[in-house]
Amino acid sequence: MSMNPTSNPTSTDEVAAVAANRVAEPFTLVLFGASGDLTQRMVMPAIFRLARRGLLSPQFRLIGYARSALSDDAFRARMRKAALREPEAGDEAAWPEFAARLSYLPAEYDGDDLQGYAELARKLERLGDAGARRLFYLATPPGLFAPIMKHLGDAKLAGPGYRPAADGWARFVIEKPFGHDLASARALNADIARSFAEQDIYRIDHFLGKEIVQNLFALRFANGIFEPVWNRNYIDHVQITATETLGMEGRGGYYETAGALRDMIQNHLLQLCALVALEPPAEWNPRAVRDEKVKTLRAVRKIAPGAVARDAARGQYAAGSLGGERVPGYREEDKVAATSQVESYAALKLHIDTLRWAGVPFYLRSGKRMAKRATQIVVAFKPAPHTPWLADGTARPNLLVVNVSPEEGIYLRVEAKQPGQEMQLRSIDLDYCRSSQRGRDATESPSAYEHLVLDSVRGDPTFFARADEVEAAWAIVEPVIEQWELDKPTDFPNYGAGSEGPAAAADLLARDGQRWYDATEGGCKIGGADTGG
Ligand code: BG6
Repeated sequence: MSMNPTSNPTSTDEVAAVAANRVAEPFTLVLFGASGDLTQRMVMPAIFRLARRGLLSPQFRLIGYARSALSDDAFRARMRKAALREPEAGDEAAWPEFAARLSYLPAEYDGDDLQGYAELARKLERLGDAGARRLFYLATPPGLFAPIMKHLGDAKLAGPGYRPAADGWARFVIEKPFGHDLASARALNADIARSFAEQDIYRIDHFLGKEIVQNLFALRFANGIFEPVWNRNYIDHVQITATETLGMEGRGGYYETAGALRDMIQNHLLQLCALVALEPPAEWNPRAVRDEKVKTLRAVRKIAPGAVARDAARGQYAAGSLGGERVPGYREEDKVAATSQVESYAALKLHIDTLRWAGVPFYLRSGKRMAKRATQIVVAFKPAPHTPWLADGTARPNLLVVNVSPEEGIYLRVEAKQPGQEMQLRSIDLDYCRSSQRGRDATESPSAYEHLVLDSVRGDPTFFARADEVEAAWAIVEPVIEQWELDKPTDFPNYGAGSEGPAAAADLLARDGQRWYDATEGGCKIGGADTGG
């Protein structure tokens, strides 16, 4: 992603100009797992939206590849439903032209019958220029990543055996989960590295595609006021929260193999943590940015086995009520064991052992079926050291809050004088809220998947997780995973659906004289229902 300054980046003309520059060169997207849930929920709506924004060239083609026996037309009908779930004006009329660019190839991913890869080769060949630039998108179960890549390499459709014309390329977009633990992530990376160059691998962490997450770079490094205070001298602690009101939504089978620590903290929350904490990259390019992230993740102190009970908390939801409706407990969810010990909530207290962050705790938490949906970063500054007209001399701390969802926004909580005769203080919010801007300039943030698909086509991996990043993140959660395996929870379920989470998570902060900030304390009016995804 390029980050060139414009005087007013949200004006409609400039957004259109930026879009014009970004039209992707002709390419073909080969979508493995094309009949699956991820394709329908995330990938297809994003591709259609990119096309609608005029960002895909007319020669763009998409080949869906999956085992289900579907005709081209049946595939298109399914994709239509997915892409037009929440249609905008003009979408219906635009669909037929877009649909004509989609085709479907029913075939095996692995095993004895590898005819599908030969057929794919023929299809790509027929597409000429667009077929020579190929993005292999692996929206499949993780066990298939390595076999599919191997077969594509063997068939010379990608990797060293692929000899395209001058400007051809073959890249892979890989969905999560990337490994189940440090050892399996390393093994998968090693497997991939044997046949493919790291620069052709785009590991998706969709949080990195979120507009406001990318905005963290601008906030930190394009504003002279933050850098001087962005350190242990002025920042008391950082809280990173991702809570959801949703439960399993049919994903119980997968979630039983994951849990909150693997599903959210190892990837999304540690990525946010790295962006808050990284040192300023000296240049704006994928290597420089990702090098800084890796350095930061490697500096996170590993929680010692004896400290896990103190610095980590876990929970599992019981039945409860959300929005006035009764919702089942985790153990009552489809494909979840009746005695499951998998955590649907996890919280960690981390330290980053660098000069900048020594002594500043980073608290991370994520949970399903919580009272509110909120993904949010709170940077809590140290309070003003002496405030003469307050009885105890200390004011409330300033907060810099980055709301990632459901509303996007950034606000700074500062103390101000209450209007009136007395010198009384109240907190006010200096507020930048994207949701309230939409009406004004009609530019909605592109979805995370739109950002990331376009970046991968343009060959820009800045906002994708590199192999060493993924491993560094696994190394952080690994001691907790291991200790939790040894000390099975005895109190599950330990928080009610629709609550604020387990008491252990509140205790984690209380021990430091802190509390979790409530996502609705200020700024954008947030706390709406989950929309999924
Ligand atoms: C996914 C997790 O990676 O992120 C889901 O597997 C979670 O369990 C989702 O619901 C949250 O993403 P978002 O963008 O809706 O906050």
